[in-house]
Amino acid sequence: MENKNVLVAGGAGYIGSHMVQKLLDDNYHVVVVDNLSTGHRAAINPKVTFYEGDTRDKNFLDNVFENENINTVIHMDAFSIVPESMKDPLKYFDNNVIGMIKLLESMVDNHVPNIVFSSTAATFGNPINNKKISEDDPQDPINPYGESKLMMEKIMKWVSQSNDINYVALRYFNASGAHPSGKIGEDHHPETHLIPIVMQTAYGQQEVLKIFGDDYKTPDGTNVRDYIHIDDLADAHILALEYLNKNKDSNTFNLGSSTGFSVKQIVDTARKVTGKPINAKISNRRPGDPDVLVADSFKARNILGWQPKYDNVEDIIRTAWNWKQSSPEGYEN
Ligand code: UFG
Repeated sequence: MENKNVLVAGGAGYIGSHMVQKLLDDNYHVVVVDNLSTGHRAAINPKVTFYEGDTRDKNFLDNVFENENINTVIHMDAFSIVPESMKDPLKYFDNNVIGMIKLLESMVDNHVPNIVFSSTAATFGNPINNKKISEDDPQDPINPYGESKLMMEKIMKWVSQSNDINYVALRYFNASGAHPSGKIGEDHHPETHLIPIVMQTAYGQQEVLKIFGDDYKTPDGTNVRDYIHIDDLADAHILALEYLNKNKDSNTFNLGSSTGFSVKQIVDTARKVTGKPINAKISNRRPGDPDVLVADSFKARNILGWQPKYDNVEDIIRTAWNWKQSSPEGYEN
């Protein structure tokens, strides 16, 4: 019988908690590993087996793999804030890169065959002519976060070539939105991501949204990003698990909606969805931001059969607004 035991590293985080919900909905047996440095205890689904610890600690991981007969690791455990990585690159290389090395060492020693890895659009840097990014485009990160994830991708690729490990690397564009139940959502301290900050401003928790630069090479001068709903990302991981079990080989996919929205367009859409004025003012550029990041997601649609359900940013923002209204203080209430 198929082994449906999955370990989600980082399962208490924003993307991890939505991933866990999806796995449980699809009858997987889920084990979560998280050190709760940015994840939330309250976001851990009571139906999972939870181990509190750090992926850089190989003994800790060995113990988890000895106890649980894991078929696939979904590796979502990483620091992911672009501006923070510009200020403290070593924090990113230490946590993200060492975490990947220790995890792979432990997987090799414990004969765990599959890994699905959360990579990122930030591995590409500034795409040539701001065109849609496909999997084979050059990867040349412009921030340490993207660099750390590119290193993780490469380490995983080489390790898979010399060991019995297959991987799927999923390069997310801008993960956004929340579970339609309103029970789980995005909650970072401090919050740095655009949509949750726009929601805070709409809700009156923040007076004004700063738009970081309006002199980029884009139609309205503000950065263009590809916002993809968290639930659609989770779907892609289920398809990646099935791909690994069926094909027993490795692959890499870009995950985005393939439509770009500027910061100003996001703010305008949020005004429409929330009915609130949302004060915004142009401020300085934030270091490390590429002009445009939009996915060519043909490969994921074609090979994995991935079909994102949220095909407009208004619906995505509506789920984020729903989460804001049901949990204004995030997991703290
Ligand atoms: N922005 C503002 N004001 C804010 C916050 C953000 O103008 O208060 C702008 C940023 O400058 C950027 C855009 O909104 O142009 C999106 O910024 P986010 O911080 O929400 O997201 P990033 O694009 O920096 O990064 C996100 C994830 C990364 C991932 C990347 C991939 O945080 O992990 O998307 O595209 F790698």
